[in-house]
Amino acid sequence: MGVEICVEGLTKSFGHQVIWQDVSLTLPAGEVSVMLGPSGTGKSVFLKTLVGLLKPDRGCVKVAGRDITRLREHDLYEVRKLFGVLFQDGALFGSMNLYDNIAFPLREHTRKSESQIRRIVLEKMDMVGLIGSEGKLPGEISGGMRKRAGLARALVLDPEIILFDEPDSGLDPVRVAYLNQLIVDLNAQIDATFLIVTHDIASARQVPDNIGLLFRRELVMFGPREQLLTSDEPVVRQFLNGRMQGPIGMAEEKDAAQVEQELARLGDMDRKARHVGNDMTPRLLPSPGITRPPRWEAIARRESELHRKEAADA
Ligand SMILES: Nc1ncnc2c1ncn2[C@@H]1O[C@H](COP(=O)(O)OP(=O)(O)OP(=O)(O)O)[C@@H](O)[C@H]1O
Ligand SMILES: [Mg+2]
Repeated sequence: MGVEICVEGLTKSFGHQVIWQDVSLTLPAGEVSVMLGPSGTGKSVFLKTLVGLLKPDRGCVKVAGRDITRLREHDLYEVRKLFGVLFQDGALFGSMNLYDNIAFPLREHTRKSESQIRRIVLEKMDMVGLIGSEGKLPGEISGGMRKRAGLARALVLDPEIILFDEPDSGLDPVRVAYLNQLIVDLNAQIDATFLIVTHDIASARQVPDNIGLLFRRELVMFGPREQLLTSDEPVVRQFLNGRMQGPIGMAEEKDAAQVEQELARLGDMDRKARHVGNDMTPRLLPSPGITRPPRWEAIARRESELHRKEAADA
């Protein structure tokens, strides 16, 4: 059931520009994790490093126990079949219609017949609401439709690991709600391990088991959803509340004195909000009829986190 991804001491730079350093985290098998972070902090670079499209300077990425940063091209090709990836720009082939774009991984990686392919492609197109647009070219449709076509293509190989780079950007709020439900249902049905990059805070609060945050070239935090939603860490609080006040500025980091002033003013408001439990948005449940098998490790982690918090509060 799903595959664990274990990242240890990962560092990536382009020339002299360090993108992030010493990132360590485990994406637990079968769980949904969300990666947050201001624009330009290297979330897309992180996803590309996980699939082996970019080589890190240091560290390792173990997928089902194999370090993909050290695999030869042929072995990497095999491991990549475990992944379904939606790139930020959709990465559709401009000269192929949607049907052929979505069928592409099946034709490339499997020996399925065209009638088997047709069944799978139409099933996935139906799932993302694209039935009727099979013959359209990527250039003829809206950004949101391209995004959904990319989603359908990421799912055709029944991946064990699903990486989505901003699947919700360019979608209207209703489609975002459908997409979140789709992710929760998929995860309950196919047990895949998910990592989703998003800027949508409402989604980040409702969908995942785990949340991570990249900022200032580091992974500030990664842990169970509850841990981040109730965290006192200023960067985490600012981001999850979508506020201007805090360490994250528009173009660059703010100076320490300004941050302290802003946070002092917010402090009381925050404490009150937490007291009435505003922070604990419930996790989105699978649709009726779909049951998610218990994720025992996640339950154990969450309980030990609750105990830790109780002990700290006492
Ligand atoms: N192939 C590359 N060569 C050189 N620099 C790159 C390359 N890819 C990304 N970068 C740089 O790495 C940094 C992080 O980029 P990335 O696209 O990962 O950010 P992001 O967190 O996904 O941002 P956004 O939220 O806007 O999508 C940027 O400064 C970008 O210019
Ligand atoms: Mg990006």
